[in-house]
Amino acid sequence: MKHALVIGGSGMLAQTSLWLADQDYFVSIIGRNVTKLKQLSDLKPNITSIPVDYSNEIEFRNAIKQSITANGSYDLVVAWIHGNGQPIIHMLDSEIKQRSSKKWKLFHVLGSGANVEKYVQSINQTENYAYYQIQLGFVIEPTGSRWLTNTEIASGVMEGIMGDSNYHLVGTLTPWSQKP
Ligand SMILES: NC(=O)c1ccc[n+]([C@@H]2O[C@H](COP(=O)([O-])OP(=O)(O)OC[C@H]3O[C@@H](n4cnc5c(N)ncnc54)[C@H](OP(=O)(O)O)[C@@H]3O)[C@@H](O)[C@H]2O)c1
Repeated sequence: MKHALVIGGSGMLAQTSLWLADQDYFVSIIGRNVTKLKQLSDLKPNITSIPVDYSNEIEFRNAIKQSITANGSYDLVVAWIHGNGQPIIHMLDSEIKQRSSKKWKLFHVLGSGANVEKYVQSINQTENYAYYQIQLGFVIEPTGSRWLTNTEIASGVMEGIMGDSNYHLVGTLTPWSQKP
């Protein structure tokens, strides 16, 4: 069975985590709140939770090490990381490559204001994984604009994974002056 890791998979990406489990992945989900994680892992036998704060380097590295040892290296990683995700992605890559030479896919979920070019230059520097970006935009309606709902975000991320293109935009970013 292929192994997927969803960093931040217990929040707005919960439906994406469940969908990956339905695609026959063994799914490991990172979050801090054990109650939210358990609610998801209770739903499917092929979901397991990794309760860890990704901003704690030692704990994060240990958690990745244990996850790979227990369930094998990752085929696919979906990462929704607050702030600068680059150091966390580098830590993840370093822990993976110490244990496996299997090539994996990273789907990096980015907020509306993220500098996607900067991330391409700073992250896409290794041959161990293929780097994909999924950017969250907003929605313009006749009555005004609004942010994406969790359902729209989760569905958009699923489309991005299935589409397999380097960059996938959920909603719109133009005109930027109309952002909510
Ligand atoms: N269009 C846009 O650009 C855009 C972008 C972002 C968000 N949004 C909106 O904002 C809402 C809130 O988003 P959100 O990201 O704040 O909350 P969220 O939907 O709860 O997602 C955050 C996820 O990351 C985990 N997480 C956060 N910090 C972590 C850490 N230090 N270590 C490990 N896991 C961590 C959370 O789990 P724990 O809490 O258990 O740690 C959760 O699984 C969304 O519903 C969406 O509508 C819109």
